[in-house]
Amino acid sequence: MAEQMPTHLILLAAGEGTRMQSDTPKVLHEIAGAPLFEHALMSAAALGGRRVIVVGHGGTQVAAAAQAVDPEILVAEQAEQLGTAHAVAQAASALEGAGGDTVMLYGDTPFIKPETLARMQAMREDGADIVFLGFEAADPGRYGRMVTEGDTLTRIVEFKDATEDERAITLCNSGVVMAGTETLLRLAAAVGNDNATGEFYLTDIPALGAAEGLVTKVATCDEAETLGINTRDDLAAAEAVFQDAARAEALTNGVTLQSPDTVHFSADTVIGRDAIIEPYVVFGPGVTVESGARIRAFSHLEGAHVGARAVIGPYARLRPGAELSNDTRVGNFVEIKNAQIGDGAKVNHLSYIGDAGVGARTNIGAGTITCNYDGVFKHRTEIGSDVFIGSNTMLVAPVTVGDEAMTATGGVVTMDVPAGDMALARARQVNKPGFARKLFSRLRAAKAAKKG
Ligand code: UD1
Ligand code: CA
Repeated sequence: MAEQMPTHLILLAAGEGTRMQSDTPKVLHEIAGAPLFEHALMSAAALGGRRVIVVGHGGTQVAAAAQAVDPEILVAEQAEQLGTAHAVAQAASALEGAGGDTVMLYGDTPFIKPETLARMQAMREDGADIVFLGFEAADPGRYGRMVTEGDTLTRIVEFKDATEDERAITLCNSGVVMAGTETLLRLAAAVGNDNATGEFYLTDIPALGAAEGLVTKVATCDEAETLGINTRDDLAAAEAVFQDAARAEALTNGVTLQSPDTVHFSADTVIGRDAIIEPYVVFGPGVTVESGARIRAFSHLEGAHVGARAVIGPYARLRPGAELSNDTRVGNFVEIKNAQIGDGAKVNHLSYIGDAGVGARTNIGAGTITCNYDGVFKHRTEIGSDVFIGSNTMLVAPVTVGDEAMTATGGVVTMDVPAGDMALARARQVNKPGFARKLFSRLRAAKAAKKG
């Protein structure tokens, strides 16, 4: 059996997106914490071929963002946006000698399912030379119309160039197309621009292909998959679609959401079975929550890992690099950043733990702060296992507290505390007998004199 050829990807991302009313290139606007183009890359993640992004407006910025997400992505420039065929043709040198098939997706169309692309691949294997993805449009509007004969696509006519009869067709072009790499690039380069807009239409390739005896077929998908983002309205609607799907998936996977509509997920959020998520919780990018953990109301998590059976919040903030082991407890108004909290350790109230390690079973008292920043550099605080940090302790990093040590309440700890020791780092208390009563009467007398 012949080895299966890879399918390469051309991702169009050169358009300006004028209707977004934005200084940010359209494909960098985010859904669920990931830029639009990244959603399209995720759709194509299983294809295994080369990936080429075609950039134009804001090209430097888009290329940098794409390479940050996918270091192997190839960038092709389309200096002037002369149409979708012209855009595809710009990917030719990046795909030189690539062979196999290529699929073209739009960077502003985030919901194409991997299964849909797999169906298109199957149609290619069954002998279709070109496969376009179409859908039955509820409101065909300005979409390109697909003209078919039996199950063959003879041509696509753009709305502006269509006759009344053609405009009555409801089978519309999503834009997505798959073909042999050589065929796609050759036909894209052969397209002319004699039409209502003077653009080079990729939708001309079925007709060009037919003239050389190539057969084009239509794969279909649900209209929801083809949702493209053109306005802030579209972006908000797409976010809602994404969030609904993410909530439904979490529920299916055995996560309790007490108030699903109030929980906000990122594209990469992973939550284990039997976790309980209370109302109004936000998962920023890069969060994993293990089984049986409970995230209490109004917590905000980002770049954090929450171990099994841990309890977070209410009102907790976990920032990037927060690593919470199993059975930990992070309470209200606590912020954790770039810190590892050991099994069963507790940070229950009003604390900031940043650039720190906290050992197993250690208890961090209320109002504790790791003073990690000296105005220029960040420093680490290392706290051992079974330690008791007294309330309102300032741990001035770099500093180490050994296993089974204690710090007394209200201390400013600037020196390392050896294992098993108690650090008393505050001024000794002095009581002045009767002094308060005397001071009160003097002050009250002064106030009465002022009024009189
Ligand atoms: C295109 C299709 C139309 C289809 C519709 C679905 C053509 C000629 N028409 O129309 O049949 O129904 O999509 O949404 O293909 N882009 C570039 N460079 C360019 C032109 C476009 O990168 O020179 C990118 C845009 O940024 C956008 C995508 O390609 O992401 C589609 O371009 P757009 O101009 O929106 O095409 P439509 O007119 O919507
Ligand atoms: Ca469009």
